[in-house]
Amino acid sequence: MRITVVGTGHVGLVSCVTFAHMGHDVVGIDADRAKVESLRAGRSPFFEPGVQGLLDEGIANGRLRFTTDYAEGIPGADVAFICVGTPPRESGEASLVAVEKATRDIAGLVDGPIVIVEKSTVPAGTHDRVKRTIAHERPELADRIRVASNPEFLREGRAVVDTLEPERILVGADDDAAFEALRRIYQPLTAKGVPLIETDIATAEIAKHACNAFLSMKISFINAVARMCERAGADIASVAEVMGTDSRIGASFLNAGIGYGGFCFPKDVDAFERVADSLGYSFPLLREIARINDEAVEAAFLKVRDALWNLDDKRVCLLGLAFKPDTDDVRFAPALALAERLIGAGARVSAYDPAAIDEARREEPEIEYAKDPYGAAADAHVVVLCTEWPEFEDLDLDKLKSVMRYPIFVDGRNVFDPEDMRRRGFTYYSMGRTDPAARRA
Ligand SMILES: NC(=O)c1ccc[n+]([C@@H]2O[C@H](COP(=O)([O-])OP(=O)(O)OC[C@H]3O[C@@H](n4cnc5c(N)ncnc54)[C@H](O)[C@@H]3O)[C@@H](O)[C@H]2O)c1
Repeated sequence: MRITVVGTGHVGLVSCVTFAHMGHDVVGIDADRAKVESLRAGRSPFFEPGVQGLLDEGIANGRLRFTTDYAEGIPGADVAFICVGTPPRESGEASLVAVEKATRDIAGLVDGPIVIVEKSTVPAGTHDRVKRTIAHERPELADRIRVASNPEFLREGRAVVDTLEPERILVGADDDAAFEALRRIYQPLTAKGVPLIETDIATAEIAKHACNAFLSMKISFINAVARMCERAGADIASVAEVMGTDSRIGASFLNAGIGYGGFCFPKDVDAFERVADSLGYSFPLLREIARINDEAVEAAFLKVRDALWNLDDKRVCLLGLAFKPDTDDVRFAPALALAERLIGAGARVSAYDPAAIDEARREEPEIEYAKDPYGAAADAHVVVLCTEWPEFEDLDLDKLKSVMRYPIFVDGRNVFDPEDMRRRGFTYYSMGRTDPAARRA
């Protein structure tokens, strides 16, 4: 198939390289000239395991090209995937400005039958707007341009594996030609047994938001129970184990911590609530999910304050800035929210992350960035672990303690064993496991 992908960010670029790997001819279009130049030079503009290798492969075998010019990607394409950003507006609703612009730019250049596929996460009903935009732009071609939805479920850090070995593929469409085009695209995966679920378009749009809202709810639920455990002298890890062994609940997304972040969960929970409002249904549970998530960062902040008394001129070291391991993405990262909160309260913040320092520096220039964990912890009154990068499990904790001013450790992801940390001489706080503040209460 001849596929054009509009928007070559975290979703679009992974789509480009994996579609090329499946044997399709792919053109990636992006409005960001610097990004396209980097891709043309064979360099992935962000860190995501597996992307660079597939990018090299696609460029070498001639299946993959990149351009800023829609005229190079749309004429002759069988399918165009819209993968542009849908960032939050002030009100929480998704901004669909880029989706509309991409639709107009695609429609303006279509020269034959094509399926335009929403891959960006969009509110229910967006497909109707896309169809109406096409009808305005190209009334003479409107019946040859089909619209479908193919929501993306990849997780950053595992994006390539998630795309090539997904648990399911979801396609929403309302005519056979659109379904058939997407079945052909994904045939290499469905032939290996990956289920492809076919629905109408509104169902696919709602299903994507519902999945992200539900996963966010699991995280906020366990974080709220963690707050209760702290007050009750109970242990959240054991509570989560008990819950997780119930197959109706499932063990994943039950790790208490400083909350979720990234370019999906925070904005999608808010956007889904706005979708509910726009449909005349009140869904305040969604607002609670977001509130409890903010509270998780605040809980870590309060532990630091409990440990240090006054924060003015105290030095706080953050280990991990990316919103989760194996990515350099810091969008809506809890670590940066915590950094802002600490700086606002008068603390000095230093930090180390294995991949996300350049991205974080752009958002938070006030943080002092270090080249390794020990440099970041030097002279710190407290270390807060914010992202559970695997390399932090191998930290030389005695060395870390020796460079710190006070041996205080706030484990925002419950990575370490409380008893072991206390034996090593740390005043150790974690999320929902008994800590010094709880014992005093
Ligand atoms: N990041 C994820 O893990 C993830 C997972 C599933 C779904 N999604 C959804 O996918 C969509 C994209 O997310 P992302 O993380 O890839 O965003 P991103 O910001 O990484 O990438 C978006 C890209 O689109 C480009 N762009 C914007 N307007 C354009 C236009 N008119 N023409 C051409 N290019 C344009 C931008 O330059 C950018 O490179 C969002 O709706 C998001 O909610 C993201």
